Amino acid sequence: MSTDSPDSPETPTRLEDLGVQLPARPDPSGLAASLSFESPCFVQGDVDWATEVRLGAFSVFYGGRIAQASIGRYCSIAPGAVLGSAEHPMDRLTTSIVGFDPRYHNWHDVLNRADDVELWNVAGFAGRPVTTIGNDVWFGADVFVKAGITIGDGAVIAARSVVTKDVPPYAVMAGMPARTLRLRFNEATVDRLLRLCWWRFSIFDLAGAPFDRIEECLDILEERAPGLSHYEGLRVDRELLRKMY
Ligand SMILES: CC(C)(COP(=O)(O)OP(=O)(O)OC[C@H]1O[C@@H](n2cnc3c(N)ncnc32)[C@H](O)[C@@H]1OP(=O)(O)O)[C@@H](O)C(=O)NCCC(=O)NCCS
Repeated sequence: MSTDSPDSPETPTRLEDLGVQLPARPDPSGLAASLSFESPCFVQGDVDWATEVRLGAFSVFYGGRIAQASIGRYCSIAPGAVLGSAEHPMDRLTTSIVGFDPRYHNWHDVLNRADDVELWNVAGFAGRPVTTIGNDVWFGADVFVKAGITIGDGAVIAARSVVTKDVPPYAVMAGMPARTLRLRFNEATVDRLLRLCWWRFSIFDLAGAPFDRIEECLDILEERAPGLSHYEGLRVDRELLRKMY
């Protein structure tokens, strides 16, 4: 699709028509360079638009807040999730945001101290780590994931868990801090799933395989995979959002 100018008849007017549902119109001036939402996906929660947020196709984010996070395909994020939120510095005079960048919330203007900004060693949130979520990860309600954590493909994070350490693929995690309850499947099956990387494909190309009988399903998909094209959804990125908004 060409999106050459805002007036181009080819510039879509509604993201929904592209299969990407976002909760609100982001401010076009405050968008991070590498935002990406792959169609189709559904976003109902808060996104920190000024940070790198990527969401893969067939993923749904029902509520909570996501910042500086790269999230794969076929993920399910229940309401209340907090993923990748910033850590405040704890070794400075204050942990307050205004202590490392006085421009936040325009308080420097309100208090007529704009000229003093240069006295600050403005640190901001530069260099904050990316939180990396694999494919087919299910987050139960009210999960917290510490910034910079990596969660493997196929993992399940139980409701109200607090994830402070990396999570291996297909682990079911629960608690505060989250610990491994078990794997979703036996190790041999997990190996097959990770080799197949079925999330390379559109769900519609996988139709007809018995999803509820995992070994049989894998037999069929392993045979079908070489004949399938990898799915490539249209990506709604900063450039496209600026053209539309
Ligand atoms: C993680 C989950 C899927 C596990 O379900 P399950 O396999 O049926 O697990 P069980 O109920 O058999 O529990 C297994 C153990 O994990 C514990 N556990 C389960 N969920 C837990 C949670 N959220 N926090 C802490 N411990 C939990 C159980 O107490 C049990 O511990 P025990 O072995 O010491 O008795 C489920 O508990 C859950 O959190 N679902 C999320 C639902 C949700 O939020 N949906 C939102 C809409 S998408």
